[in-house]
Amino acid sequence: MMESKYNIGNTKNGVQKFQMKMKPIPVIFNNSNGPSSPKKIKLNDENRNPSNGQINNKPKISIQDQRRNLPVFDKRNKLLDLIKRHKTLIILAETGSGKTTQIPQYIFSARLQENGKIGITQPRRVAAVSVATRVAQEYGHGMSVGDTVGYSVRFEDCTSNKTKIKFLTDGMLLRESMFDRILMEYTVVILDEAHERTIHTDVLFGIVKRAQKTREDRNLAPLKIIIMSATMDVDHFSRYFNNCQAVYLEGRTFPVNIYYTIKPHDDYQTSCVATFFKIHREAPPNHDVLIFLTGQEEIEACAHRIRMLAKDPDVKGPSVKCCTLYAAQPGAQQMSVFQPAPPNTRKVVISTNIAETSVTIPGIRYVIDSGMVKARTFHPSTGLELLKVQKISHEQAWQRAGRAGRDSEGHCYRIYTRSQFELMEKTTTPEIQRANLATVALQILTLELHPNYFDFLDKPSKDAVGLACEQLKLLGAVNSVDSIILTPLGRKMSKFPLDPRFSKILITAQQYGCLQEALTVVSLLSGESILINPVTKQAEAQNVRQKFCSAYGDHVTLLNIFREFDTVGQNNRRTWCHEHFINMRNILHAREIRAQLEQVCKKCDLGVMSSCGGDLDRLRKCLVMGLFMNVAELVRDHHYITLDKKQSVQFHPSSCLHRQQPHLVLFTEVVQTNKCYLRGLTTVEAAWLQEIAPEYMKTHTLRSNSS
Ligand code: CDP
Ligand code: MG
Repeated sequence: MMESKYNIGNTKNGVQKFQMKMKPIPVIFNNSNGPSSPKKIKLNDENRNPSNGQINNKPKISIQDQRRNLPVFDKRNKLLDLIKRHKTLIILAETGSGKTTQIPQYIFSARLQENGKIGITQPRRVAAVSVATRVAQEYGHGMSVGDTVGYSVRFEDCTSNKTKIKFLTDGMLLRESMFDRILMEYTVVILDEAHERTIHTDVLFGIVKRAQKTREDRNLAPLKIIIMSATMDVDHFSRYFNNCQAVYLEGRTFPVNIYYTIKPHDDYQTSCVATFFKIHREAPPNHDVLIFLTGQEEIEACAHRIRMLAKDPDVKGPSVKCCTLYAAQPGAQQMSVFQPAPPNTRKVVISTNIAETSVTIPGIRYVIDSGMVKARTFHPSTGLELLKVQKISHEQAWQRAGRAGRDSEGHCYRIYTRSQFELMEKTTTPEIQRANLATVALQILTLELHPNYFDFLDKPSKDAVGLACEQLKLLGAVNSVDSIILTPLGRKMSKFPLDPRFSKILITAQQYGCLQEALTVVSLLSGESILINPVTKQAEAQNVRQKFCSAYGDHVTLLNIFREFDTVGQNNRRTWCHEHFINMRNILHAREIRAQLEQVCKKCDLGVMSSCGGDLDRLRKCLVMGLFMNVAELVRDHHYITLDKKQSVQFHPSSCLHRQQPHLVLFTEVVQTNKCYLRGLTTVEAAWLQEIAPEYMKTHTLRSNSS
């Protein structure tokens, strides 16, 4: 066995020296041997020119030539013919083939959409925005996004009455379906990235299937459904869509060599950095690297380390252009990952699983796979939903590896051992089987259907559906768990693009005279965190933000920060944010969200923008209105227990209450490592629970009352 040992880093920069052994086990990787080998028709590939793959080493190639070089290009007419002939079609092709960017344009130029629009869903906002921008460039000859090609994502609508090709998040199309359940705006709906099996896409399968049937029955303009994906169990999908046709487009993939580590590495972040520099020393410039990590904070920390180390005169290799890619990024920065690096420079992109299949970054020769992903998980038995860093599945590991083999032969370094790999799950569980279904249940109810009888591709568990209906009943959205009729409150709740608990807070804020404050808090909780806690300056960050801290907890603290930010002049904002370790982008985004939610409030006749000023009891009570199911009670010395499912929990060290021990708190976030931690806390009083949620309290007694 070949064995390479390497050692990088420099103690004089305060960067730890690290050493890691990698044992390369070259495995020729080929997507078609991947996890699913669907029944498929193969379209001929005779016209393909294999030398076309190398787009990225010639950055001057025109955008139209780039289009012609994509694997789907030769299949254009055959595809159009299939689309014309079938009302529902499944299209499978490897990531990067041109499905998302090209197929909508083909349909449009052949006018298959007739008088309607082509809607293309993406599970992620980043993908919807970046792909729409790209397609507008390709199609528009200088036209900007928002004209013929537009996008619509939560809190941002970039379309006009001229828009014909509309990219939207699956969540947005789902919201649209609540206003028009047969989706008359569209004649073609493309559900893209179907293999990701997000909750929203899963519900949309049922909705478009139903809409197509209803339109047929009523002799309305037909709805064409296209399901697109990189990998999936075609038979399962095809059966669900009345045995519809599936087509497989052969892509262009090159072999990828896979390497596993010899021993397990707990600190996968450090290992990713180490591996990057191992590659960096040896590989030619412009052989770019893609690193998969789990979230914004981790990605920024890793980017920082790479940038620092790359400047070190002792580190060999070309210059480094380090880009990051995660959901909460502004568009311009996202687009920069697609730009080729200047000559003699290596681009490294550090991304969440967005780059797994939703977007393709040209020029990648090396992939470093941490083996981890941040995913939403929900335990019906504990009633807690949490974002948890967890191991990826084989399916995801192969997708990640495949990103290195798009342009030429590539390499994938897995920061786990072969036996760790063997222990991973084969496939990813659909989100609908591991998420809190309250939001989805509310959406299904707006269609006057009961979630128990909805035509799901894969049914969520009875327990999870039951729990969701129970929550909706406790919140007052329905009168009984079996009801298919929403109460007037429930109908209002469904107008907000929020978890029903948060919608309830906004709707009742008027009653407590604190709509201003409630809007701020809910907006701040709807975006990414505005607090920056750099690993090396944690204490400093906490000290400088101390003045905002409230004895009432984190939500009021956030409110204080937001109020103060609002008083800072435009020119001083950047400095202010920097000094206070506040993420300016995220706080500005929260402001936009706030403006949008304010609009929804106005539409729901909650127009009076009441403020409680300093009387924060009103805000806290209002939070209880939505979040009484998220309360924890002190049991003993810093140990808490959740009221709902009696789960034992502690306060997260990042909470401003973590040194205190209030008797009761409500929480908005759960973090699970080896223990279960609560974050986003507000102190509440027992009497309020009785007053606000008497029905709930009948079945959930406080320990202090029962003893
Ligand atoms: O959907 P699929 O994975 O099959 O491919 P795609 O997203 O349509 O991407 C086709 C090509 O467009 C890829 O080679 C990308 O590099 C390129 N692309 C780009 O350069 N900039 C974007 N914002 C999106 C795609
Ligand atoms: Mg795509």
